[in-house]
Amino acid sequence: MSATLDHLFDQNVAWASQKTREDPQYFRRMAEQQAPRYLWIGCSDSRVTANDVLGLDPGEIFVHRNIANVVHTSDMNILSVLEFAVDQLKIEHVIVCGHYGCSGVNRAIAGEHSAMLDNWLLPVSMFYRKHRATFDAITDDVERVNRICEINVEMQVRRLAATPIVENAWLRGQTLHVHGWIYAIHDGLLRDLGPHVSSIGERDRLPSIDQMVLQPTEAESAMRRQAIAAFGAIDVTDPRLHACCPSGRIHNS
Ligand code: CO
Repeated sequence: MSATLDHLFDQNVAWASQKTREDPQYFRRMAEQQAPRYLWIGCSDSRVTANDVLGLDPGEIFVHRNIANVVHTSDMNILSVLEFAVDQLKIEHVIVCGHYGCSGVNRAIAGEHSAMLDNWLLPVSMFYRKHRATFDAITDDVERVNRICEINVEMQVRRLAATPIVENAWLRGQTLHVHGWIYAIHDGLLRDLGPHVSSIGERDRLPSIDQMVLQPTEAESAMRRQAIAAFGAIDVTDPRLHACCPSGRIHNS
């Protein structure tokens, strides 16, 4: 393989020419303006790309990604993205989207402390230590990480909804919804974890993140219902379908 990465330039030319063949005005339209309707805050994981997961074209979603989709309220990067999305682009939906099997979350609970990354992951690792007895009661390693992946999304939704940027938008009457979703790499399906915050009142009525740890997730997951709707023909009772995404069954007992 060439050290100059010529193959990527070749693929770029092939992509641009295909797009132009399909729609001669495509790039002209792209260059005029961006008017995305959504802001995606997701993990840097290379398998979780917002446009692909949602089937959206360039221009349709504004994106911020970092390891384990953490909302640090002192992070100029995420705050700048959020401010631009809310104040300038007037985006109405902010989606915090984690994913099952997140390596960042896995590392956060592993007790590592040798890299910058471990500073980044501190909100997750500190929360894990606070509720360690509850989380460690989940004996299966994969299930434990997946549950913390879900709780991490819930936590970041609350942190995002507490930022002055979001709060000020609500105070001036701007429409802004904050959602918490999670993505399953093994079947490509999103799950809505439930938090849907559209005002200061709704934010303040959310159960605290400490309470969320003790609440079971719904038995019949939204992901499962979505799978039924999406792939009606397949047998969704086949346990292999959810082999690495067990949150629907681990918290029923
Ligand atoms: Co991840």
